[in-house]
Formats: sequence, C-alpha cells, structure tokens
Amino acid sequence: MIVLTNKRKVNLVSATAVIGLQWGDEAKGKIVDLLTEDHEIVVRYQGGANAGHTVVRQGQTFKLSLIPSGIFQPNVTCVIASGVVVNLKTLLDEIALLRSRGVSISNNLLLSDRAHVIFPWHLEEDRILNECPSGEAIGTTLRGIGPCYRDKVGRSHAIRVGDLFESGFKERIEAIVQAKARFLVPLGVSPDSPSLDAAAIFREYSGYAEAIRPFVCDTTEFLLTAAERERRILLEGAQGALLDVDHGTFPYVTSSNSSGAGISAGSGIPAKYIKKVLGVVKAYTTRVGGGPFPTEQDNPIGQTIRDRGNEYGTVTRRPRRCGWFDAVAVRYTARLSGVDAIAVMLLDVLSTLPELKICVAYELDGERITHFPSHVEQLRRVKPVYETLPGWSEEIQHVRRLQDLPKAARAYLDRLAELLRCPIEMVSVGPDREQTIIC
Ligand code: GDP
Ligand code: IMO
Ligand code: MG
Repeated sequence: MIVLTNKRKVNLVSATAVIGLQWGDEAKGKIVDLLTEDHEIVVRYQGGANAGHTVVRQGQTFKLSLIPSGIFQPNVTCVIASGVVVNLKTLLDEIALLRSRGVSISNNLLLSDRAHVIFPWHLEEDRILNECPSGEAIGTTLRGIGPCYRDKVGRSHAIRVGDLFESGFKERIEAIVQAKARFLVPLGVSPDSPSLDAAAIFREYSGYAEAIRPFVCDTTEFLLTAAERERRILLEGAQGALLDVDHGTFPYVTSSNSSGAGISAGSGIPAKYIKKVLGVVKAYTTRVGGGPFPTEQDNPIGQTIRDRGNEYGTVTRRPRRCGWFDAVAVRYTARLSGVDAIAVMLLDVLSTLPELKICVAYELDGERITHFPSHVEQLRRVKPVYETLPGWSEEIQHVRRLQDLPKAARAYLDRLAELLRCPIEMVSVGPDREQTIIC
C-alpha cells in the first residue's frame, strides 16, 4: 500500500506492471519509483538503453536507461530480465554513475544470463539503416536495439550474456565479425573499423564480462520462484504500447513488445501472476522519431506544450513532437495491455492553455471511426475529431488533492476516464515524487 504525504492510498497487488500507453516517455520512471516503496522486486523486461526513465528524488534528477527505477529503494532487488537487450558499457557506466551519486549497487542488481548483448556492429547497422530508409525514417535512438533483436530472432549471429562466460566466445566473435563484414563493408563501413576488429572486441567484452559477473544469474528461475511465493514484484515497461512491434504503429515502432503483451515473454513470469496493470499516460501526447501522429500540433500550441513540459528526449535530446490527447489511440492500448487503472502525468503542463482538445474519434476516408487503424497508411489519412474543453489558468504543481484542482482540470480528467473506460488512480502535477495526487 503506497501512502503519500496527503495520506491517500493506492491498492497494490503482486505482480503489478507499469506500462506506457502512448509513444513512450509517459513518466513511467516517476511512477515506478513511487510504487517501489511497496515492492520487493522491480523488473525491466524489454527494450534496452533506448529507454530513458527519469526519477527525481530529494531534488536530485536521475536518468536511467537500463537499471530499473527501483534501484534507489533499499531492500529492493532490481532485475534486468531476459527480454532486455543490453549494452554492457552503458550498463557499467550507469552503475558507476549511480554509485558516484551515493546509490548502493551490489547484490540488489541481477542481470539475466539469457539477455542478448549489443555489439559494435549493431550500432553500425542501426546508423546505416537510419541513414538510408526505404521511406520515412523510423528515427531510432541509434542504440543498436533493432539490429540486436533482429539477431536474437535470427539466432545465428546472436550472443547472450551467458555466452560471455563459456568457451568458444572468442571463436564466436570471429565468426560473427566475418559474417557482419560481408554485409557492412559494401555499405561503406571500413574493414579496419573498430566495429569489425574481432580481437579488440573480444578483449573489450572479456573485460565487461568480468565486471558484470557478480550480477549475472538465471533471472527467470529467480522470478518464477518469487512469483510462486507471492513476493511483491513490479514490472517496469519501457517505451509505450503504440511502439509495440506487433501491435503499435508498425513500422514506426521499437523492436520489442512494449505493450502489456510483452510482460510474460520478457520476464518469464507467467501471465496468471500479473494481477494488476497500471497504464501511464501524459495528459497530452508526445512522440520522438518518425511515423504518423494524428493529433500532432506542429504550431504554437505544440511549442507551448514542448516548452512547458520540457519535451526534449531523455536519451537523444531530440525535441519531442507534441499534440493533443488521443483517446482513440489510448483506449486501444489500454485494452491491448489489459489496463486496470490509469496514471495521468504532466497535467500541470496544460495550465494556461485557454482551451484543450481531446481526440474522441477519427474520420477515415469520409467515415467516422472509433477504432485504432491497423495500417500506418490509414493512420496517416485519419483526421482527428476533437471535443473541446475549457482550460484553466492557474498553475497546479502545488496541488495534492483532487478536490483542490481547478474545476476545469477535474472535468478534463473525468472526461479522459470516461473515454478510456478506466478509472484514474494517480495524477501527477510535477516531476517530484511529492507532486502526485492519489485519487
Ligand atoms: P519515461 O521514459 O516514461 O520514464 O519518461 P521520461 O523520463 O522520458 O520523461 C518524463 C519527463 O517528465 C521527465 O523529465 C520527468 O521528470 C518529467 N515529469 C514526470 N512527471 C511530471 C509531471 O507531472 N509534470 C511535469 N512537468 N514533469 C513531469
Ligand atoms: P522510454 O522507455 C520514447 C522510439 C524512437 C523511435 C522508435 C524506434 O523512455 O519511454 P529504437 O531505438 O527503439 O529502435 O527506436 O522508438 N523510442 C522511444 N520513444 N521513449 C522511449 O523509451 C523510446 N524508445 C524508443 O524514438 O521512434
Ligand atoms: Mg523516456
């Protein structure tokens, strides 16, 4: 049971998942950090260092890309599970940075021996494919995520964390480098490039292997036992459900199942143990990278949202595209992820806008639809049908109780809950953990 300063409570059960319902950056990090107090285990189970989760604690801001946002809570075990693709250098840098800021990391961090490892050739592939897209660029984070997942599914060129400790690792790198050179050299990568230097890569990764050795274990077994013993597990989704490789705005998606569909596959925890899914949304919509965005406001309204919400990517610092809340899209992703309750974040950003729009339907080729189209070309053609609600002029970052919000803000939240057919359980009015209203 989480209790904030305003003494309101959120019911928690094990296991609980926190899932972004838009195109990522919904402030999942803040919610996970808040809920962590009442959990024993926090798990990242998909994605990799494409994620950037912000946690603000006691005035200090932390940006996490691979380490679960539960790391600040003593006695919580943080797990990087098998579905994550891991850049070992990024992981070690993140551990070092957190330690330098006083965060203790030892046996409270576990890394799956089944997690796949990102290698320098994955970064080259990500860069090259972004530079010569077949259409509009996906605009990836260039962290090698797609190429690593591609090799995982392709199997023959994949290396998992556990492989680093087995004999034959050196030969495996040599064989993969040879195969990768056949693909990368014709695309302009020099055969002398460090990304194709098998001996140097072997040395570098052998060093990483020693450094990560204390954290590596069979996390699937650990989590299965924990779930069976009803330990309180919190699953931290990365990205957002609209970026899900199967159910999102393909091909402008990431390479993992970032909706609720990915929880069991990525963590190894059977679906029957997932007792609650909390969907996280911004009070508006943002997107980084390419792809259709029906409610985008590429105009002064979008700029106001960007300025007030400091909407610049946590990972790449790219300006985020901003727009109105899309209830068609979120109703779809809430259903897809089996969401039980919603956390509405960054409500404070909407203060001062004279009126607010919510997309309640789309018009597709002259017909009004309320479902989310499966094909990206249809999504490009839809025109949002908006409902307009009055805005509020007051700043609300200090508000801690629902009844103290301006009437228009409460009406806005009520309408969102109605359109999403889901209760709103938390409202966030600022980045700090205290700036939270439990409904
Ligand atoms: P995540 O990837 O879903 O964890 O989200 P990010 O960390 O990438 O982006 C969310 C940003 O919003 C971070 O900079 C947070 O500190 C900030 N933030 C979180 N909640 C609020 C809020 O209620 N209001 C404001 N203004 N900022 C918030
Ligand atoms: P968090 O966890 C927002 C986007 C990229 C790009 C697409 C594919 O912080 O919410 P990738 O590098 O994954 O192949 O890029 O997905 N993307 C994100 N957008 N938040 C994220 O993570 C994202 N992770 C990937 O911008 O459009
Ligand atoms: Mg983020």
